[in-house]
Amino acid sequence: MQRFTIIGGRPLVGRVVASGAKNAALPILAASILASEPITLSRVPRLTDVTTMLRLLESLGARVEKGTRTFSGQSATCADNRETENVRVPFSITIDTHSLTSTAPAERFVQRMRASFCVLGPLLARHGRASVPLPGGCRIGPRPVDLHLRGLAALGADIRVVDGLVIARAARLRGARLSLVGPHGPTVTGTVNVLCAATLARGTTIIQGAAIEPEIADLGRFLNTLGARIDGLGTETLEVRGVEQLGGGAHELIADRIEAATLLAAGLITAGRVTVERVDPAHLTAVLDVFTQMGADVDVGTDRVTIWRRGRLHPINVTARPYPGVPTDMQAQLIALASLADGTSHIADAVFCERFRHVPQLRRLGAHIEKIEKGTGTISGQSATPAVNRRTEIVPVPFASGVTIRGVAQLHGARVVASDLRASAALVLAALAAGGTTHVERLHHLDRGYEGLEQKLRSLGATICRETSRDLLVAAGRLN
Ligand code: EPU
Repeated sequence: MQRFTIIGGRPLVGRVVASGAKNAALPILAASILASEPITLSRVPRLTDVTTMLRLLESLGARVEKGTRTFSGQSATCADNRETENVRVPFSITIDTHSLTSTAPAERFVQRMRASFCVLGPLLARHGRASVPLPGGCRIGPRPVDLHLRGLAALGADIRVVDGLVIARAARLRGARLSLVGPHGPTVTGTVNVLCAATLARGTTIIQGAAIEPEIADLGRFLNTLGARIDGLGTETLEVRGVEQLGGGAHELIADRIEAATLLAAGLITAGRVTVERVDPAHLTAVLDVFTQMGADVDVGTDRVTIWRRGRLHPINVTARPYPGVPTDMQAQLIALASLADGTSHIADAVFCERFRHVPQLRRLGAHIEKIEKGTGTISGQSATPAVNRRTEIVPVPFASGVTIRGVAQLHGARVVASDLRASAALVLAALAAGGTTHVERLHHLDRGYEGLEQKLRSLGATICRETSRDLLVAAGRLN
């Protein structure tokens, strides 16, 4: 067990560099199965989800070589918060999937991480068969894979689900016209599976209703580097002209827009001034729009964003939607911000309608939040961004559910338990602004998706340290 101890109330000030995107890294690592020669990825974030994907690939017979870089952070011990340490961080990774020995990843990988399911399309396309356990639901609600399977079937795969195992076969996939839109909009990892499979299909595939998240475009650029022929990246219609094989190549991952937005939110919630560097501001348009509605001043450069504010945060009325809308992966962090707004906010989620496990924990810190049940009429929030409103027309709002937040002037420290990755980030944000000391428990969720978060926050002036079970036992005098 690991926990953060955070002493809140200090404005965060300074500059931090965004890490590579988790949700680009995982699909691209899965897609390395398609390459017939080694591939090298740079700006790979040091995350447990990345480690899980690498182990999965190794378990199938891939050869993985990790480069390292030195990351200058600060001590992770509570005893000496100022001490500087050097952490060895994998930065570039070379993968050779030339001689895979298995097309059946073990269940433990898919149980640990849903993104493991992204190996299905690449295995099927490259090896003609795959057996991948069904991922099932998770902590943020039901997460079906019907669209993934329907898309692969449209490419000619024979797909059976036997005892929770997806068994897919196809001597050679063939191009087709298909749609990936479900009741909550397009599917991100479904687009990954079908796009990867289509690159090696015979003939041309037209994917309609493809996810347009920047991480999908990054995957497409990676595949094109290897020799794939994909047009329409960044749009809802992808045209894939199948090729016989993909070669190797090198690719640098895009910045993690959710990490960047979370760090900016840390500056905003503490009334500080934070600059996030090496990020594409265009990927943050909807979130920056919401921050501005909350009263933030935002300065945008070519690859950096600075945020600060004067006065209290304003209330907001937003619904999380697929890109280019406000991301569901920022919904929890926005609720933390709205908890301190001067008025009542409404925040809904049209992508994952059960993603609200952070709410009871934020209440422990003094937030006033009321849950609204599925499909009620009060959750009509929209962003002012024209592109977002265009997308709004095709995403049915009745599936959303949300919360009403009556802002308070001050949160207070408490012991809270993280339930999932973005819930952890919301609790850290609230704790940074709260008066007194907060303990955030179950950090393994946070470590799945934020590289060196405490080092980055400490470099901005936060008082935050990580304690392990051992530290706690030593402090209690039960170990030495
Ligand atoms: N859906 C279906 N059928 C399907 C697939 C999805 O109905 O076959 C529904 C889902 O239940 C959901 C909606 O479609 O309501 C969108 O789900 P999507 O498939 O897009 O989600 P995902 O691909 O499983 C990715 C990210 C998530 C992020 C969502 C939404 C990765 C590895 N994961 O998940 O990231 O929340 O897209 O943007 O890219 C996170 O980073 O914290 C995280 C959960």
